[in-house]
Amino acid sequence: MAQEQKLVLITGATEGVGKQTAIQLAAKGFNIVMMVRNKVRAGLAKAEILAAAPNAQVDYIIVDLTSFKQVRAAAKQFNDKYPKLDVLINNAGLIYPDKKITEDGFELCFQTNHLSHFLLTSLVLDKLRLSKQGRIINLSSEGHKMGKFDPDNFNAEKGYSSIAQYCFTKLCNLYFTYSLAEKLKGTGITVNAVHPGVVRSGFGSDLDKGWLKPIFAISRLFMISNEQGAATSVFLASDPSVAKVTGKYFKNSKETATKGNTHNTTNQQILWDYSVEKTGAFKP
Ligand SMILES: NC(=O)c1ccc[n+]([C@@H]2O[C@H](COP(=O)([O-])OP(=O)(O)OC[C@H]3O[C@@H](n4cnc5c(N)ncnc54)[C@H](OP(=O)(O)O)[C@@H]3O)[C@@H](O)[C@H]2O)c1
Repeated sequence: MAQEQKLVLITGATEGVGKQTAIQLAAKGFNIVMMVRNKVRAGLAKAEILAAAPNAQVDYIIVDLTSFKQVRAAAKQFNDKYPKLDVLINNAGLIYPDKKITEDGFELCFQTNHLSHFLLTSLVLDKLRLSKQGRIINLSSEGHKMGKFDPDNFNAEKGYSSIAQYCFTKLCNLYFTYSLAEKLKGTGITVNAVHPGVVRSGFGSDLDKGWLKPIFAISRLFMISNEQGAATSVFLASDPSVAKVTGKYFKNSKETATKGNTHNTTNQQILWDYSVEKTGAFKP
């Protein structure tokens, strides 16, 4: 009997770590659905994935993660077309130079990196329940260590710093991972977070100008490739050894402890409640 092909849904697969993750998983036999915001870039990424894995089925759904309306529409498109989902990779993320408020009224980086992925996850969760072993992978970062959790400042109400806001959202990715893993215990669905490494991707390109340009150019010399950056996500998506591992943070394909503040369950609950209230997600 032919082996059942597994399906991966991945956000932000037009570039960087996401595109490489899609390429490597397609080469391992996974079918791929990319959720991306730009049709032209989606087509180019699809062609690259198919060049590496000609037998893969590769589809894309257009979504701008700065809009809950678009996330809902994209999730509906996915749910209407696909009977089940094996792996969800909440990969898309950015650091943004200036404070910008989205059409939904949230700071852009916070909505893109956390709130929209929170909403998307809740909307496709029933499809993951239909997989033999559903996996959710959230792209966090070592930057979470510098993330400050202040419920009165989620949307940079007290002033904006691109790096501070980015690090806060990466802490949110960890809080979400730990909370959701706890809530999904006993379902067979695993939830883990990843630091991909410091990767020579498109990350930070919005900041790569003016006096920061030479600093970016030098830093890139010391970064790892997108291929290397994708390795931990690919491992978590595909390796049998982690089929039952949940609620963990991985670097270099190895489980790594996170410290202090990341295990603050009061903060985790505050973020969870806020995210449910603002997105309407995870309602029974
Ligand atoms: N690079 C690093 O060193 C590093 C380190 C730690 C963690 N990470 C995390 O790794 C993940 C992947 O980052 P990367 O390095 O691969 O960055 P990247 O090369 O800049 O790729 C980011 C992806 O996110 C997509 N994206 C951004 N805003 C979006 C939106 N509003 N709607 C839909 N898609 C959107 C981009 O789409 P477009 O092509 O349309 O722009 C792109 O496909 C991120 O979560 C990042 O925080 C990266």
